[in-house]
Amino acid sequence: MTGLRFPTPDLLTRLADRLGPRGFTTDPDLVDTWTTDWRDRVHGRAAALLSPANAEEVAFVLREASAAHVGIVPQGGNSSMVAGATPSADGSQLLLSLRRMNRIRRIAPQDNIAEAEAGVILADLHAAAEDAGRRFPLSLAAKGSATVGGLISTNAGGTQVLRFGTMRALVLGLEAVLPDGSIVEGLTALRKDNRGYDLRQLLIGAEGTLGVVTAASLKLVPAAAQRAVAWVGLEAPEQALAILRRLEQATGEAVESFELVPADALDLVLRHIPDMRAPLERRWPWNVLIEATALADAPPPDEALGLALATAIEDGLAGDATLAASETQAEALWALRENISEAERIDGMAAKHDVAVPVAAMPGFMGRARAAVEARFPGVRALAFGHLGDGNVHFNVRAPADADDRAWFKADGSAVTRFVHDFVAAEGGTLSAEHGIGQTKLADFIRLAEPTRLHAMRAIKQALDPAGIMNPGKLLPLAEADAAQ
Ligand code: MLT
Ligand code: ZN
Repeated sequence: MTGLRFPTPDLLTRLADRLGPRGFTTDPDLVDTWTTDWRDRVHGRAAALLSPANAEEVAFVLREASAAHVGIVPQGGNSSMVAGATPSADGSQLLLSLRRMNRIRRIAPQDNIAEAEAGVILADLHAAAEDAGRRFPLSLAAKGSATVGGLISTNAGGTQVLRFGTMRALVLGLEAVLPDGSIVEGLTALRKDNRGYDLRQLLIGAEGTLGVVTAASLKLVPAAAQRAVAWVGLEAPEQALAILRRLEQATGEAVESFELVPADALDLVLRHIPDMRAPLERRWPWNVLIEATALADAPPPDEALGLALATAIEDGLAGDATLAASETQAEALWALRENISEAERIDGMAAKHDVAVPVAAMPGFMGRARAAVEARFPGVRALAFGHLGDGNVHFNVRAPADADDRAWFKADGSAVTRFVHDFVAAEGGTLSAEHGIGQTKLADFIRLAEPTRLHAMRAIKQALDPAGIMNPGKLLPLAEADAAQ
């Protein structure tokens, strides 16, 4: 790599000419809304905001940027949890928004496929699939802003991974632009294609460091005509896991979400988010939100779920449980889970982590990690919530109750994060289960990653992006020579 540069006025003029007024702006009022990450931790600047209308325009941008050695930061809904779409602070990079490419090109119900452009918002994809009697089975709290391109580039997970997997399992084909401006015409309806290296899987989860995803063929599944949503109160995560295994026995593949919510997280939601109600009479130390679905002609899932939960209560595994009696109640239970991040954000700064260990090890891990972090940093409050069924929790650490959270975060935040990441690495887990590396996990990722993994990743990066223009400083560190001159 040869060092990145600031865009010259000449380059900006060429880009403005090609992209037109809807596709190019340097107006700070329009650019600056997109240069801070969702968590308000990383503040960047951009030389211009580019909003191409199609893959050919993206190709033009990348060709020009490669020739000029100018960094490109692709961005979808800007809901990254790791500042993966935030440009550097020196203002040398170009923000490449895919939001204008927001067409669902086609839905093919017989093939169970949706072909969507990168800027399609997840909630819109859900609605379009539903109109066709199908379902795109990946959902997450940011569904109103997260885009298809961002979900693919981060290999997003969410709350149905248990049954349907992450984006890697749901993308059949990609249209993408490589850094030299060549277009990968990989949209396909094929379920099988065994021709060597899988460029699609390389681009999924690459965090925009190898090219720009412009459209995708996505797997659909039959619409779930019936769903049962339950909220369960219990004493310990071990019991939650035992209930999950029983439910699998009792309902086959019906259970698609199994989300763990500690009392502290529920308290935050009830305190900070309007119109929320406690789902159970008693405050249980732990809660689980369960969703089971069934097709139209299958037996209703609430019968099997209700029966299994009643038995779990009888056997002392669960303390209490409620089954949503209507869609409104089901939505209300989901709102308690989906608002945890927002409530935590309102409450104050926290050191946030996204860790995974083998599923069966998770309850023990949570107990050990909590005891260790609270002993090492007296007064802090660990709060782990999320995707227990995937062995993935967001193990967040909040400031001591009497501390100024911003001052605490500035002083201790990175030491806490380092401690948690070391802890999870020592237990054989990962420091990023679903949020990616971006900027905020980069240092610890590099410090803890296996040398062979890093060597292979650097070789792939060098082969596809020799000028190092794609999302510089995310996922892989900037070499000193690559800081913009
Ligand atoms: C979630 O599971 O709610 C998301 O991954 C968001 C988060 O970790 O804050
Ligand atoms: Zn999550």
